[in-house]
Amino acid sequence: MSLFKGFLKNNKDKGERIGVDPQNIPTHIAIIMDGNGRWAKRRKLPKILGHREGSNVLKKIVRYCDKLGVKYLTVYAFSTENWKRPKKEVDELMDLLLEKLKNAEKELGGDQAKIRVIGNIKGLPIDIQNEIKRVERVTSQNSGICLNIALNYGGRDEIVNAVKEIVTEAEKGIIKNDHIDEEYFAKKLYTWYMPDPDLLIRTSGEKRHSNYLLWQMAYTEFWYTDVLWPDISEAYIDEAIMEYQKRNRRFGGV
Ligand code: IPE
Ligand code: IPE
Ligand code: MG
Repeated sequence: MSLFKGFLKNNKDKGERIGVDPQNIPTHIAIIMDGNGRWAKRRKLPKILGHREGSNVLKKIVRYCDKLGVKYLTVYAFSTENWKRPKKEVDELMDLLLEKLKNAEKELGGDQAKIRVIGNIKGLPIDIQNEIKRVERVTSQNSGICLNIALNYGGRDEIVNAVKEIVTEAEKGIIKNDHIDEEYFAKKLYTWYMPDPDLLIRTSGEKRHSNYLLWQMAYTEFWYTDVLWPDISEAYIDEAIMEYQKRNRRFGGV
Protein backbone atom coordinates (compact mmCIF):
# COMPACT_ATOMS: atom_id res chain seq x y z
CA MET A 1 0.00 0.00 0.00
CA SER A 2 2.79 2.41 0.92
CA LEU A 3 4.50 1.59 -2.38
CA PHE A 4 1.31 2.42 -4.25
CA LYS A 5 0.95 5.74 -2.44
CA GLY A 6 4.55 6.52 -3.30
CA PHE A 7 3.88 5.78 -6.93
CA LEU A 8 0.95 8.20 -6.99
CA LYS A 9 3.02 10.86 -5.26
CA ASN A 10 5.93 10.46 -7.70
CA ASN A 11 3.61 10.73 -10.65
CA LYS A 12 2.04 13.84 -9.17
CA ASP A 13 5.50 15.29 -8.63
CA LYS A 14 6.17 14.79 -12.33
CA GLY A 15 2.98 16.65 -13.06
CA GLU A 16 1.33 13.58 -14.57
CA ARG A 17 -2.43 13.33 -14.50
CA ILE A 18 -3.89 10.59 -12.36
CA GLY A 19 -7.24 9.23 -13.44
CA VAL A 20 -9.23 9.64 -16.61
CA ASP A 21 -8.97 12.97 -18.43
CA PRO A 22 -12.58 14.07 -18.97
CA GLN A 23 -11.46 16.22 -21.93
CA ASN A 24 -10.25 13.22 -23.95
CA ILE A 25 -12.87 10.51 -23.59
CA PRO A 26 -13.06 8.16 -26.59
CA THR A 27 -16.24 8.89 -28.58
CA HIS A 28 -16.66 5.25 -29.53
CA ILE A 29 -15.51 2.20 -27.57
CA ALA A 30 -15.80 -1.32 -29.00
CA ILE A 31 -15.59 -4.33 -26.70
CA ILE A 32 -14.96 -8.02 -27.35
CA MET A 33 -16.52 -9.43 -24.20
CA ASP A 34 -14.54 -12.68 -24.00
CA GLY A 35 -13.92 -15.23 -21.26
CA ASN A 36 -17.40 -16.09 -20.01
CA GLY A 37 -16.75 -19.80 -20.59
CA ARG A 38 -13.47 -19.82 -18.67
CA TRP A 39 -15.03 -17.82 -15.83
CA ALA A 40 -17.73 -20.48 -15.41
CA LYS A 41 -15.26 -23.35 -15.80
CA ARG A 42 -13.01 -22.02 -13.03
CA ARG A 43 -16.01 -21.98 -10.72
CA LYS A 44 -17.24 -25.39 -11.92
CA LEU A 45 -20.48 -23.72 -13.01
CA PRO A 46 -22.50 -24.38 -16.15
CA LYS A 47 -21.22 -22.24 -19.03
CA ILE A 48 -24.48 -20.35 -19.38
CA LEU A 49 -23.98 -18.88 -15.91
CA GLY A 50 -20.77 -17.34 -17.21
CA HIS A 51 -22.74 -15.77 -20.05
CA ARG A 52 -25.39 -14.59 -17.58
CA GLU A 53 -22.80 -12.99 -15.32
CA GLY A 54 -21.28 -11.43 -18.43
CA SER A 55 -24.59 -9.77 -19.25
CA ASN A 56 -24.84 -8.38 -15.71
CA VAL A 57 -21.39 -6.86 -16.09
CA LEU A 58 -22.41 -5.34 -19.43
CA LYS A 59 -25.29 -3.54 -17.73
CA LYS A 60 -22.85 -1.96 -15.27
CA ILE A 61 -20.35 -1.00 -17.95
CA VAL A 62 -22.97 0.63 -20.21
CA ARG A 63 -24.02 2.89 -17.34
CA TYR A 64 -20.45 3.73 -16.49
CA CYS A 65 -19.49 4.59 -20.08
CA ASP A 66 -22.60 6.75 -20.37
CA LYS A 67 -21.56 8.58 -17.21
CA LEU A 68 -18.06 9.15 -18.59
CA GLY A 69 -19.51 10.69 -21.74
CA VAL A 70 -18.75 7.90 -24.21
CA LYS A 71 -21.20 8.37 -27.10
CA TYR A 72 -21.11 4.91 -28.71
CA LEU A 73 -20.42 1.54 -27.14
CA THR A 74 -20.37 -1.45 -29.50
CA VAL A 75 -20.25 -4.87 -27.86
CA TYR A 76 -19.71 -8.28 -29.44
CA ALA A 77 -22.43 -10.56 -28.14
CA PHE A 78 -22.61 -13.32 -30.78
CA SER A 79 -20.49 -13.77 -33.90
CA THR A 80 -21.38 -15.40 -37.21
CA GLU A 81 -18.85 -18.08 -36.20
CA ASN A 82 -20.43 -18.75 -32.79
CA TRP A 83 -23.05 -20.97 -34.49
CA LYS A 84 -20.25 -23.57 -34.60
CA ARG A 85 -20.62 -24.05 -30.83
CA PRO A 86 -22.53 -27.02 -29.37
CA LYS A 87 -26.30 -26.77 -29.98
CA LYS A 88 -26.99 -26.67 -26.24
CA GLU A 89 -24.81 -23.59 -25.75
CA VAL A 90 -26.24 -21.83 -28.81
CA ASP A 91 -29.83 -22.56 -27.64
CA GLU A 92 -29.10 -21.32 -24.13
CA LEU A 93 -27.40 -18.22 -25.48
CA MET A 94 -30.38 -17.43 -27.72
CA ASP A 95 -32.72 -17.85 -24.71
CA LEU A 96 -30.55 -15.48 -22.66
CA LEU A 97 -30.39 -12.94 -25.48
CA LEU A 98 -34.16 -13.03 -25.85
CA GLU A 99 -34.64 -12.55 -22.12
CA LYS A 100 -32.22 -9.61 -22.04
CA LEU A 101 -33.70 -7.97 -25.15
CA LYS A 102 -37.20 -8.21 -23.67
CA ASN A 103 -36.08 -5.97 -20.82
CA ALA A 104 -33.21 -4.29 -22.58
CA GLU A 105 -34.30 -0.78 -21.57
CA LYS A 106 -33.80 -1.80 -17.93
CA GLU A 107 -31.54 -4.84 -18.18
CA LEU A 108 -28.93 -3.50 -20.57
CA GLY A 109 -29.32 0.12 -21.42
CA GLY A 110 -30.41 2.15 -18.46
CA ASP A 111 -32.62 5.21 -18.54
CA GLN A 112 -31.43 7.15 -21.54
CA ALA A 113 -29.51 4.64 -23.68
CA LYS A 114 -30.38 4.24 -27.32
CA ILE A 115 -30.12 0.54 -28.17
CA ARG A 116 -29.37 -0.78 -31.65
CA VAL A 117 -28.41 -4.19 -32.96
CA ILE A 118 -25.85 -4.69 -35.72
CA GLY A 119 -25.35 -7.93 -37.65
CA ASN A 120 -27.29 -10.34 -39.84
CA ILE A 121 -30.59 -9.91 -38.01
CA LYS A 122 -32.57 -11.96 -40.52
CA GLY A 123 -30.47 -14.97 -39.59
CA LEU A 124 -31.67 -14.85 -35.97
CA PRO A 125 -34.76 -16.61 -34.54
CA ILE A 126 -37.95 -14.67 -35.29
CA ASP A 127 -38.80 -13.92 -31.63
CA ILE A 128 -35.37 -12.29 -31.24
CA GLN A 129 -35.90 -10.30 -34.45
CA ASN A 130 -39.18 -8.98 -33.08
CA GLU A 131 -37.61 -7.94 -29.77
CA ILE A 132 -34.82 -6.17 -31.64
CA LYS A 133 -37.39 -4.14 -33.57
CA ARG A 134 -39.26 -3.32 -30.39
CA VAL A 135 -36.25 -2.25 -28.34
CA GLU A 136 -34.82 -0.17 -31.18
CA ARG A 137 -38.18 1.57 -31.54
CA VAL A 138 -38.79 2.31 -27.86
CA THR A 139 -35.27 3.62 -27.25
CA SER A 140 -34.85 5.52 -30.52
CA GLN A 141 -35.58 8.94 -29.01
CA ASN A 142 -33.27 8.49 -26.01
CA SER A 143 -30.47 11.01 -25.68
CA GLY A 144 -27.84 8.98 -23.78
CA ILE A 145 -25.13 6.59 -24.94
CA CYS A 146 -25.80 4.56 -28.09
CA LEU A 147 -25.37 0.89 -27.17
CA ASN A 148 -24.79 -1.21 -30.29
CA ILE A 149 -25.11 -4.93 -29.72
CA ALA A 150 -23.33 -7.02 -32.35
CA LEU A 151 -25.51 -10.08 -32.81
CA ASN A 152 -24.92 -12.68 -35.50
CA TYR A 153 -22.25 -10.20 -36.53
CA GLY A 154 -19.22 -10.95 -38.71
CA GLY A 155 -16.96 -8.34 -40.28
CA ARG A 156 -16.53 -10.34 -43.50
CA ASP A 157 -20.26 -11.01 -43.73
CA GLU A 158 -20.88 -7.29 -43.31
CA ILE A 159 -18.43 -6.39 -46.11
CA VAL A 160 -19.91 -8.99 -48.48
CA ASN A 161 -23.39 -7.61 -47.74
CA ALA A 162 -22.26 -4.09 -48.55
CA VAL A 163 -20.74 -5.26 -51.83
CA LYS A 164 -23.98 -7.01 -52.76
CA GLU A 165 -26.00 -3.89 -52.05
CA ILE A 166 -23.72 -1.79 -54.22
CA VAL A 167 -23.77 -4.34 -57.06
CA THR A 168 -27.60 -4.30 -56.94
CA GLU A 169 -27.58 -0.51 -57.18
CA ALA A 170 -25.20 -0.73 -60.14
CA GLU A 171 -27.40 -3.33 -61.85
CA LYS A 172 -30.37 -1.00 -61.46
CA GLY A 173 -28.32 1.83 -62.90
CA ILE A 174 -28.53 3.90 -59.69
CA ILE A 175 -24.75 4.29 -59.35
CA LYS A 176 -21.63 4.15 -61.47
CA ASN A 177 -18.16 2.85 -60.70
CA ASP A 178 -16.63 6.27 -59.94
CA HIS A 179 -19.36 7.10 -57.38
CA ILE A 180 -17.94 4.48 -55.06
CA ASP A 181 -15.40 5.68 -52.54
CA GLU A 182 -14.63 4.82 -48.89
CA GLU A 183 -17.35 7.10 -47.60
CA TYR A 184 -19.96 5.59 -49.90
CA PHE A 185 -18.90 2.08 -48.93
CA ALA A 186 -18.95 2.81 -45.19
CA LYS A 187 -22.56 3.98 -45.48
CA LYS A 188 -23.53 0.46 -46.62
CA LEU A 189 -22.15 -1.17 -43.48
CA TYR A 190 -24.23 -2.04 -40.40
CA THR A 191 -22.39 0.77 -38.63
CA TRP A 192 -23.39 3.47 -41.16
CA TYR A 193 -24.73 5.79 -38.44
CA MET A 194 -21.67 5.91 -36.18
CA PRO A 195 -18.02 6.98 -36.27
CA ASP A 196 -15.27 4.32 -36.24
CA PRO A 197 -14.22 3.00 -32.81
CA ASP A 198 -11.44 4.95 -31.09
CA LEU A 199 -10.65 2.20 -28.62
CA LEU A 200 -11.07 -1.59 -28.67
CA ILE A 201 -11.10 -3.47 -25.40
CA ARG A 202 -10.68 -7.26 -25.47
CA THR A 203 -10.81 -9.29 -22.29
CA SER A 204 -9.53 -12.76 -21.36
CA GLY A 205 -6.07 -12.53 -22.91
CA GLU A 206 -6.83 -13.29 -26.57
CA LYS A 207 -5.08 -10.96 -29.00
CA ARG A 208 -7.07 -11.23 -32.19
CA HIS A 209 -9.90 -9.55 -34.07
CA SER A 210 -12.18 -12.60 -34.30
CA ASN A 211 -13.92 -11.05 -37.32
CA TYR A 212 -15.00 -7.93 -35.39
CA LEU A 213 -15.47 -4.56 -37.12
CA LEU A 214 -12.77 -5.30 -39.69
CA TRP A 215 -13.39 -2.25 -41.86
CA GLN A 216 -14.11 0.09 -38.95
CA MET A 217 -11.00 -0.69 -36.87
CA ALA A 218 -8.43 0.47 -39.42
CA TYR A 219 -7.10 3.05 -36.91
CA THR A 220 -8.56 1.89 -33.60
CA GLU A 221 -6.29 1.73 -30.54
CA PHE A 222 -6.26 -1.75 -28.94
CA TRP A 223 -6.23 -2.51 -25.24
CA TYR A 224 -6.05 -6.08 -23.97
CA THR A 225 -6.37 -7.57 -20.53
CA ASP A 226 -6.13 -11.10 -19.15
CA VAL A 227 -9.13 -10.40 -16.92
CA LEU A 228 -12.19 -12.44 -17.91
CA TRP A 229 -15.24 -10.43 -18.99
CA PRO A 230 -17.43 -11.37 -15.96
CA ASP A 231 -14.65 -10.03 -13.67
CA ILE A 232 -14.51 -6.64 -15.40
CA SER A 233 -15.40 -3.58 -13.35
CA GLU A 234 -15.43 0.18 -13.88
CA ALA A 235 -11.78 0.42 -12.77
CA TYR A 236 -10.64 -1.58 -15.82
CA ILE A 237 -12.52 0.77 -18.12
CA ASP A 238 -10.65 3.65 -16.46
CA GLU A 239 -7.38 1.77 -16.99
CA ALA A 240 -8.14 1.21 -20.69
CA ILE A 241 -9.11 4.84 -21.23
CA MET A 242 -6.04 6.14 -19.35
CA GLU A 243 -3.82 3.99 -21.57
CA TYR A 244 -5.71 5.26 -24.64
CA GLN A 245 -5.14 8.83 -23.50
CA LYS A 246 -1.37 8.24 -23.52
CA ARG A 247 -1.35 7.02 -27.11
CA ASN A 248 -0.22 9.20 -29.97
CA ARG A 249 -2.73 8.62 -32.77
CA ARG A 250 -1.12 9.41 -36.10
CA PHE A 251 -3.53 7.93 -38.67
CA GLY A 252 -0.57 7.44 -40.97
CA GLY A 253 0.56 11.06 -40.69
CA VAL A 254 3.50 12.48 -38.77
C1 IPE B 1 -17.60 -14.80 -24.89
O1 IPE B 1 -17.28 -15.80 -23.98
C2 IPE B 1 -19.07 -14.75 -25.20
C3 IPE B 1 -19.46 -15.38 -26.48
C4 IPE B 1 -18.63 -15.74 -27.43
C5 IPE B 1 -20.88 -15.56 -26.70
P1 IPE B 1 -16.76 -17.22 -24.43
O2 IPE B 1 -17.89 -18.21 -24.38
O3 IPE B 1 -16.06 -17.16 -25.73
O4 IPE B 1 -15.73 -17.54 -23.26
P2 IPE B 1 -14.41 -18.41 -23.39
O5 IPE B 1 -13.57 -17.81 -24.46
O6 IPE B 1 -14.84 -19.80 -23.74
O7 IPE B 1 -13.79 -18.32 -22.03
C1 IPE C 1 -15.54 -13.41 -30.01
O1 IPE C 1 -15.18 -14.34 -29.05
C2 IPE C 1 -17.03 -13.32 -30.12
C3 IPE C 1 -17.73 -12.77 -28.96
C4 IPE C 1 -17.17 -12.31 -27.88
C5 IPE C 1 -19.16 -12.72 -29.09
P1 IPE C 1 -14.88 -15.84 -29.41
O2 IPE C 1 -14.59 -16.54 -28.13
O3 IPE C 1 -15.96 -16.42 -30.25
O4 IPE C 1 -13.57 -15.73 -30.31
P2 IPE C 1 -12.43 -16.79 -30.64
O5 IPE C 1 -13.14 -18.06 -31.08
O6 IPE C 1 -11.67 -17.02 -29.37
O7 IPE C 1 -11.60 -16.15 -31.69
MG1 MG D 1 -14.10 -16.92 -26.26
